[in-house]
Amino acid sequence: MTDSHNYQVGMIGLGTMGCNLVLNMNNSGYRVAGYDKDPLKIDVLNKLATNDSLKAFAGIADFVSSLQTPRIIMLLVPAGKVVDYVINDLIPLLQPGDIIVDCGNSHFTDTAIRVETLSKLKFHFVGIGISGGETGARYGPSIMPGGDKEVYPVLSPILQSIAARVNEQPCTAYMGNGAAGHYVKMVHNGIEYALMQLISETYHLLKKSGSLNNTQLHQVFDQWNKSRLQAYLIEITAAIFLQKDENGKDFLLDNILDTAHQKGTGAWMSQDAMTIQSPIPSIDASVSQRMLSALKKERIEAADIDNINNEKTSDIHSESLENLVEEALHAAFIICYTQGMAMLQQGSLYYKFDIPIKDVASIWRGGCIIRAAMLEDIMQAYEKEE
Ligand code: 6PG
Repeated sequence: MTDSHNYQVGMIGLGTMGCNLVLNMNNSGYRVAGYDKDPLKIDVLNKLATNDSLKAFAGIADFVSSLQTPRIIMLLVPAGKVVDYVINDLIPLLQPGDIIVDCGNSHFTDTAIRVETLSKLKFHFVGIGISGGETGARYGPSIMPGGDKEVYPVLSPILQSIAARVNEQPCTAYMGNGAAGHYVKMVHNGIEYALMQLISETYHLLKKSGSLNNTQLHQVFDQWNKSRLQAYLIEITAAIFLQKDENGKDFLLDNILDTAHQKGTGAWMSQDAMTIQSPIPSIDASVSQRMLSALKKERIEAADIDNINNEKTSDIHSESLENLVEEALHAAFIICYTQGMAMLQQGSLYYKFDIPIKDVASIWRGGCIIRAAMLEDIMQAYEKEE
């Protein structure tokens, strides 16, 4: 069989996320073609291919002509200018009616411009938020597609077949017009920042005031993960406490610098919250804390001045402290999701996205980084409202 018009879906960008999504689609029965500028990545995918239903191409023209028409070409490349470079390379090779799907963490305003520009050229452009990291991409992410409703029926069976499932329901649904998919993903990430910040503060309190060691901290988080606080981020936090370093002697966590950088999606949410006037103080604070954490040198100097390292241990009995912290964390989690959902509602009106909020809660229940038991309650609350 020739390669021409053989493959049902194409993927540009065969980094870990792109490669894993390709494998996920291929496992779900789709014939998938890949393309990357890096020959090493092409080699990796071709070595993973067990039959001719999966192939990576070294040339973009061969890749494009290997696809069935109208073509479905997914992009998983770094957000920003790279997306435009790839689109510009593609345009001369495409035919009207072809579909470009940006699966990266693009800013929703860039997506809105691309939807407009490409529709004038008679191409469909769809922005999709994908969450779940490498493992999610391979075995089932949460997928947030928005935009061109005309092509949604073409994409939806593919997305449904690769998404995570909760109670047999796929964690993907149409998120609304224009750049809605990337808007929803931005809000997902803002909530992720806030939950991570809360977990960090909880860790700090239990360690410094409660004098809990890593094994005890593991037990507390593990217990919480079996309760109303059950959440992916709580689960991986519990696991991290027991992780040993490469020598297998010390706890890895104790050797990790308390400083984190950011790709920017949390800050985008705070910026847009100001534009549309949606109050999200928990998310704003977590973005600021992330920036503060990166100022390690300044924090060391400030700690010396204030003698911050000599924090007192609490005289509250450790079990009571754990209970108090659990209650505070539970309340704070609810507040974060609520602020995020409220902003989605406000943004939906402001940008005329028409985002189905209940469906957002539903598809965040599985596959994504902020999946948590409480999203079931949130979804049911929106169901009751309908
Ligand atoms: C996901 C994650 C993932 C990543 C972000 C945020 O949903 O799979 O949100 O997209 O965590 O890129 O990265 P930063 O925290 O570095 O901004």
